[in-house]
Amino acid sequence: MPNKVETLRWLGDENGHLVLIDQTRLPMELVEIECRTVESVWEAIKQLRVRGAPAIGISAAYGVIVGLQSGRPLEEITAYLASSRPTAVNLFWALERMKKAALEKRNLLAEARAIHEEDRAMCHAIGRYGAELLANNTGVLTHCNAGGLATAEYGTALSVFFTAQDQGKQLHVFVDETRPLLQGARLTAWELAQRGIKATLICDNMAAQVMREGKVQAVIVGADRITANGDTANKIGTYSVAVLAQAHQIPFYVAAPTSTFDLSLESGDLIPIEQRSSTEITHGFGKQTAPEGIDVYNPAFDVTPARLIKGIITEHGIIEPVTKATIAAMVQSS
Ligand code: MRU
Repeated sequence: MPNKVETLRWLGDENGHLVLIDQTRLPMELVEIECRTVESVWEAIKQLRVRGAPAIGISAAYGVIVGLQSGRPLEEITAYLASSRPTAVNLFWALERMKKAALEKRNLLAEARAIHEEDRAMCHAIGRYGAELLANNTGVLTHCNAGGLATAEYGTALSVFFTAQDQGKQLHVFVDETRPLLQGARLTAWELAQRGIKATLICDNMAAQVMREGKVQAVIVGADRITANGDTANKIGTYSVAVLAQAHQIPFYVAAPTSTFDLSLESGDLIPIEQRSSTEITHGFGKQTAPEGIDVYNPAFDVTPARLIKGIITEHGIIEPVTKATIAAMVQSS
C-alpha cells in the first residue's frame, strides 16, 4: 500500500514510467499499478483504473512519454491514446498540448509535468472560489467523483468542500452512489471519510426525497466537457439531479477548470457520449443481476443544459449567469 495517496505520479526521467492508483480496486484495496507501455496507459484509462476528466488528461500526457520510449511516432501515439475514451475533453486538450510542445521542440516530460502541476493549482483555486458559496452547516449533494482521485489532487467539486472545511465550516455531503460503476459510493464516500467530512451515501433514486426533506441547500458536480453555451457533460445521472434541483429551487453548480471547456462546440448536442459495455449493468462487480440476453442501454454521460446551471466555478472565478458571453469572457481571457 502506498504511504501517501497520490492519484498518479511520474517516476524517474524520460526513461521513467507512470504510477497510478488502480481506482477499480477502491475502497477495499489501495494499490498502485505501473504503466511502462502506452498500451497499459490506454487500458488504465479505458477500464477506469484512472478516471475523471483532469486525471485522464494528465495520464495521457505522461502516456505520450511512455509511448515515445518505444520509438513509435508521436502522431501514432497521440491518436492511439485519443481513442481510449471520447467524452472528457481534457484528454484531447492534453494531447494537443503535447503535440504543440513537440512542434516547438520543447521538452515533453517538462510539458507533461506542467500539465500535472497546473491542474493541482487549478483545483485549489476552484476550491477557494467555490467555498465562498457555502455557509456553515450547509447540506450539499454531489454526483460521481470529482475529487482528488479525478484530478492531480484535491478535485474540483470536492475541492470546494475540502476548502470550506479548511475554513472551519461544517458541511453535510449527500453522496449519490452513481450507478452503474459506483464512483460516488466507492470513491467520493472514501475521500470524504478520509478527510472527516460528514457524508451520507444515498442511492441515485433517493436524491428527490432528500431534497424534498430540505436536507440539501446546494448541488455541486464536476464536468467532462462544457460547450460554448454552457451545456455540460458529466457522469450519467447528473442531468436528472439538475432537473430535481430546479424543481426544489436548489442552486446547481458545476466546478471545472478551463481545460474542461470546449468552445469549438456550440452546444451539448454535439458532445460525443461514451457508450459502455452492457455487462456493467447486468453483471455489476461480477454478480449477475439481470436476465441473460436482456437489451441494455449504457451511456456513461449525459448533458445538463446551461439553463439549469446557476454557476460554473473555475480557477479564475465563478461564471454566473451561464451564457455564451460570460463563458467567452472568462475562458478566453485565461
Ligand atoms: O467515468 P468517469 O468516472 O471518468 O466520470 C467522471 C466524471 O463524470 C466526473 O464528474 C468528471 O470527470 C469531473 S472530475 C473532476
